Amino acid sequence: MQAYIDSATEQFRALLTEQIARQERIAAGSKAKDFTAMEKIVIGVCGGDGIGPIITREGERVLRYLLKDEIEAGKIEIRTIEGLTLEKREEVGKAIPEDTLAALKECDVILKGPTTTPHGGNLESANVAMRRELDLYANVRPVCVPEEHIDWIFYRENSEGEYVLGSRGVEIPEKLAMDFKVTTDAGTRRIARAAFEYAKNNGKTNVAIVTKANIMKKTDGNFSKICHEVAADYPEITAEDWYIDIMTANLVNPAIRSKFQVFVLPNLYGDIITDEAAQIQGGVGTAGSANVGDTYAMFEAVHGSAPRLIEQGLGEYANPSSIFKAAAMLLRHIARADAAEKLEKALIICTETEKKVIATGEAENAKCAEFADYVMSTIKTL
Ligand code: IPM
Ligand code: MG
Repeated sequence: MQAYIDSATEQFRALLTEQIARQERIAAGSKAKDFTAMEKIVIGVCGGDGIGPIITREGERVLRYLLKDEIEAGKIEIRTIEGLTLEKREEVGKAIPEDTLAALKECDVILKGPTTTPHGGNLESANVAMRRELDLYANVRPVCVPEEHIDWIFYRENSEGEYVLGSRGVEIPEKLAMDFKVTTDAGTRRIARAAFEYAKNNGKTNVAIVTKANIMKKTDGNFSKICHEVAADYPEITAEDWYIDIMTANLVNPAIRSKFQVFVLPNLYGDIITDEAAQIQGGVGTAGSANVGDTYAMFEAVHGSAPRLIEQGLGEYANPSSIFKAAAMLLRHIARADAAEKLEKALIICTETEKKVIATGEAENAKCAEFADYVMSTIKTL
C-alpha cells in the first residue's frame, strides 16, 4: 500500500507543477485574431466518424455557396483536413494524428464532424485533445425557442475543470479511485471575460454564474469569485449565482426559464446542461457549438457520430441542421455577418416555419444532401 501512496504522491506533485505552468501560460495572455484585417482566411473541414463526413460534406457545400466570390478571389480557402478518423487514430495511438494536428494548425477556423470516442481503453477523445492543443477555451452554445421567448447562450469553460486531467486520475485497485478537477484563476478569468463581453456587446443584462460552490468549495468557489470580480467591470449587467442542480430544474420551468440570457459555467456542468438545453430546443441534432480560442476556433455539431445510422445504412439521411448552425457560427466568427445571417434565416425557414423538406435520419424523409439543396435554394430567395 505504501508503494501506491508514494507513487500517487509523486504523480500529484508532477500534475501540480504541470498545471501551474499551464496557468502561467494562460496568464501571459494572447491576442485574438482580427478577421476583418486578414488578407486570407483558411477554413479547414474535417469529417470525423460515422455520419460526420456526410454532414460536413453538406456543410462545406453550403459554405462554398455562401462564400463563392471570396473563394474565387482567393480571400478564403476551404481545405479538407484528412486523418481525424477512429481507424487512423487507433492505428497511430493518438487522439489526433501528428500530421492532422499540423494541418489543423495551418487553418484559422475549422468545421468539424463528430468523432467517436471508444469507451475505456487509452485513446483520448479527439474533441478534448483538439480543444487542448488549439487552446479553444470557450465553448459557446446558443439555444433559441422563439415561441417560448427562450434566447440562451452558454459560455462553457472548455479547457480545464474535470476534463484537463480526466484521463490522469489515481487508482488503488479494489480500494479507491480519485480524479482531479482543476480551476485556474487565469482560465476562469478568460471565460468570464468572454461571457460578459458577449453580454455587453449584445445588449444582454443578466449573466448566470452556475456552479456547485456549496460543495466544490475550492474549484467552483474560485470560479464564482473570479466571475464576480470580472462582473465588477460591467456594472450595467447583473451577475447572479446559481447552483447547477436548481438550474437544471429552472431550464424546464416555463414560469422562469425565459428570464435567463447568458450562462457562464465550468466544463462538466456546461457539458451536461447544454444537452438539456438543446433538447428543449428540439434535440441535440438542432444545436451548434463553437469552440473558441484566441488563435483558432472550431465549430461542430453538438451530437455524436450516430454509428447506429451508419449500421442501418441510413447515414445519407442524417440531419445536418446542427452542423449548419455551427457553419453559421463560423461565418459570424470570421466577421462574415451577412453570410451568417442568410444561413440563420434560411435555417429558421427550413426547420421551423416552412419545413418543405425534412431530414430526420429515416429513409421516408429527405436525404442530407436534399435538405442542403433546400437550404441553399431558400438562401437564394432571401
Ligand atoms: C460535447 C461532447 C464532448 C464533451 C465529448 C464528445 C468529449 O459531449 O462536446 O459536449 O464531453 O465535451
Ligand atoms: Mg456533451
